[in-house]
Amino acid sequence: MKFWIHTYGCQMNVRDSEAVEALLEAAGHVKASGEDDADVVIVNSCTVRQKAEEKAVGKSGYLCSTGKVVGLMGCAVKRLGADVFRKLPKLSFAVGPRCFGLIPKILADGRYPRLETGDDEVPEGLGAHPVTGRAGTFAAVQSYVTVMIGCDNRCSYCIVPDVRGHEYCRPPDEIIAEVRCLAERGVREVCLLGQSVLRYRGADGTTFPRLLRRLQEIDGLARIRFTSAHPSGCTDELVVAYRDCPKVCRHLHLPVQSGSDRILADMGRRYTRAEYLAAVEKLRAFDPEFSVTTDVIVGYPGETEEDFEATRTLLDAAGIDNSFVFKYSPRPGTRAAAKPDDVPQCEKERRDQVLLADQERRGLERNSRLVGTVREVMVEGPSKRNKARLAGRDSGNRIVVWDGAETPSPSVGALVRVRITEAHPQILVGIMV
Ligand code: 5AD
Ligand code: SF4
Repeated sequence: MKFWIHTYGCQMNVRDSEAVEALLEAAGHVKASGEDDADVVIVNSCTVRQKAEEKAVGKSGYLCSTGKVVGLMGCAVKRLGADVFRKLPKLSFAVGPRCFGLIPKILADGRYPRLETGDDEVPEGLGAHPVTGRAGTFAAVQSYVTVMIGCDNRCSYCIVPDVRGHEYCRPPDEIIAEVRCLAERGVREVCLLGQSVLRYRGADGTTFPRLLRRLQEIDGLARIRFTSAHPSGCTDELVVAYRDCPKVCRHLHLPVQSGSDRILADMGRRYTRAEYLAAVEKLRAFDPEFSVTTDVIVGYPGETEEDFEATRTLLDAAGIDNSFVFKYSPRPGTRAAAKPDDVPQCEKERRDQVLLADQERRGLERNSRLVGTVREVMVEGPSKRNKARLAGRDSGNRIVVWDGAETPSPSVGALVRVRITEAHPQILVGIMV
C-alpha cells in the first residue's frame, strides 16, 4: 500500500512517525508523494493542549470523509480511548504512543475498527529509521534518536505522563549501535530525545553524561544535541562532559514554565527561581556563549500580575536566548485541571504577546553580542525566506544565514565558518570565511 503520515506535536512524535515509516517500508509498503496519492493515511496526534488535540482529530475527520483507510496514532489516542471512535466513526484504527509498532500487523490483518491504547510496553521499532527518499536534504544528515520514553515527573498541568506512560530508558549499547549505524549512513548530527533526558540511567548504571562520552567517540558524527532537560540535571558531571566532548552542542532547552516560586511550587516543578538561575549560570560559567532556550506557560490557575512579572524578570536575568510561550490549557485528569482556569483568555493572550515582545528585544540584544565573531555552522540548505541564501545552525542552535554564492557550494551537513555581520531577534546574518 502507499502510505502517508501527517505529524502533529513535538519531536517525539516526529521521531515516532519516522519509526512507523521505517516499519512500513520494511513490511513492503511505499511512502506516497503526498496525502492525496496515499491508500492509507496515518495522523500522529498530540494532546498537550486542547487545541493540539482538536487539530489532529479535525484532520482525521476530514481524511475519513475521503474514503481512505485512516489511522490515528499518538497521545490523543491514549487520552480518548474508545471515545476516539465516537468522534471519528469512520476511523479504521487507533494506536497509542507506546504501541505504534503494531501498525504493520494491523494493516496486514485489515480488520477494522481496531483500537490499541497500550500501557507501559516498549514499542517495537523504537530504533528503526527509514532509508529512502532523503538524499540531499537535511533529513539525510540529521536524525532523532529516542533514548527514553514516558515520564515520571508528574508536573501538575501536564498530561504527558498519563498518555506516554512510565519512564523507560533504552539500553546504552542499543543507543550506541543505532547512532553508529546512522553515522555510517552519513548522518552528521543526532538529537537524543526524552521527556527529561538528564534523568537517563541505563540498567548498568550508565548516566546521561557517560552516554554523551560514548557518543563523542563515534566516527563521522559531528554534532550531538538532546532535548528536553530539567534544571536538576545540570550537574558538575554534565558540565565536565560538555568540556570533554566538543561534539556536544552548547545549547540546552531548559523549560522554566514560570518565574514565580509560588507557581513553580504549585506546578510541582521541584526547583525555585534561584535554582533555575543557578543552573543557567553554571552553564554560562563554563561557556559565556552557551545558549539556553525555554518554555513558559502563561495563565496557569491563580497566576497573578505579580507572578507574571516574576516570569518576565527571570527570563531577562537568565539571558534566555529563545522562548516558546504557551497559554495554559486544562488537561482532564491532571492536578491543575481540578483548579479553576481563572485567568481570562484575553489576559492569557496579552501575557503571551508581552513575552513575545520581550523575546524579540532580548533576542536582538543577545544576538548583537555575536556580531564580529565567527560561528561554526552546519549547513542545512537554502534559507526558507530567500532561496539564494544558505542557512544552518551554530552549536547554540542559532539560525545563521549567509549569501551562499560560494563555489563550490558547501554540501548539506558540512561545517562551515561564518563571520557574523548582522544580528536580528531570531537570526544571525554573516559571510562565509
Ligand atoms: N497547557 C499549556 N502548555 C502546556 N505545556 C505542557 N502542558 C501544558 C498545558 N496543560 C507546555 C509546557 C511544555 C511544553 C511542551 O508544553 O511549557 O514544556
Ligand atoms: Fe514530564 Fe514535566 Fe515535561 Fe510534562 S513538563 S513532560 S511532566 S517533565
